[in-house]
Amino acid sequence: MKTAILGFGVVGSGAFEVLEKAGYEVKRVLDIRPHDELGDKLTANYDDILNDKEISVVAEAIGGLEPAHTFVVKALKAGKHVVSSNKHLICTYYEELHALALENGVTLRFTSSAGGGIPWLYNLKRSVRCDDIYKVMGIMNGTTNFILDAMISDGRDFDDVLSEAQRLGYAEANPSADIDGLDTARKTAISSSIAFNTIIKEENVDIFSLRFIKKADIDYITSKLNKTVRYLGFGVKSEGGASVFVEPALLDSDALESNVRKNNNMISLFGRDVGRLSFFGQGAGKYPTGNALAQDVIDILSGSTELSFAPEAINVDNATLERAYYVRTKADVSYDFFDTVEVIDGSKYITTKKITVSKMHAVAKEIRSLDADAFFAGIEG
Ligand code: HSE
Repeated sequence: MKTAILGFGVVGSGAFEVLEKAGYEVKRVLDIRPHDELGDKLTANYDDILNDKEISVVAEAIGGLEPAHTFVVKALKAGKHVVSSNKHLICTYYEELHALALENGVTLRFTSSAGGGIPWLYNLKRSVRCDDIYKVMGIMNGTTNFILDAMISDGRDFDDVLSEAQRLGYAEANPSADIDGLDTARKTAISSSIAFNTIIKEENVDIFSLRFIKKADIDYITSKLNKTVRYLGFGVKSEGGASVFVEPALLDSDALESNVRKNNNMISLFGRDVGRLSFFGQGAGKYPTGNALAQDVIDILSGSTELSFAPEAINVDNATLERAYYVRTKADVSYDFFDTVEVIDGSKYITTKKITVSKMHAVAKEIRSLDADAFFAGIEG
């Protein structure tokens, strides 16, 4: 049984090095760019991999939807196991790929699609086997944590820290995916799908962007509310469904998440029997994510069972969970669920009573139509 890697970018080249160093031969690498160091392992023709009977595992590290989707479908149909680090692909095509894997008697694994180098999805899936996982929650995006940590610790501005995160290679090619929450939403959707044995699509996830946070928010949250802020994805099981959302969240300073520094990630599951399990580490990067992709390959080569799951339909309903919120806006608004309101330099700093996630996200749209700079965050606890 040999392996092929699709894409020799950051993650693919990391997985290649990890596998070869551990003694697992990578027979072919698909990439259209020249890579002299790969010699005759390199091919730009996918048929060289599809038609090679010795290659039984295909590791997809191209990213994006096409051509990754077409290549993965062809690999599964050709009876090859597939591992992927591609959250966009898994979020969009999970049902189709899972059905094809079943039909062709092969395995589909995607541990590295959420949490990067952290063996999070793998352990989440193991936990689901014999426990009721009622909540997943965590810091799933390194760029936004890097930004918040630097704003809080060093008093720096949002834009200045974002530029540094881009220089360091943490941010997505289009950093909107990081700071507007789509990256965290996809990882939250995949995590919640596994936790609750269902299919949650990225469009079902309510999102508050982080891009509107200012130094004034950090000052108010720290000095007046005695909290700190992190950017979190949440999946919470409810009666007959689940609430799934991404929000900046205000936390006590001794909360585990509050103490996750720089670009690290930390994701937790909450099980009825096992309680809280938290997984900390690098959520991105050549060797961390390459290592997690390689681990899925090695599991398959060792005959280990698949990560994929047989989904059942459940409702995603953000009207089933209530929490309190923090709002900063210049808009002239007042709602009956506002609790405290303080005006500083023309801006209202508001905390709310508990209201449903869906109501707050609907109200946030109204407020944002009056004040494009308004900032919203959930309050934990
Ligand atoms: N841009 C992502 C992050 C990379 O900052 O975590 C991993 O998905």
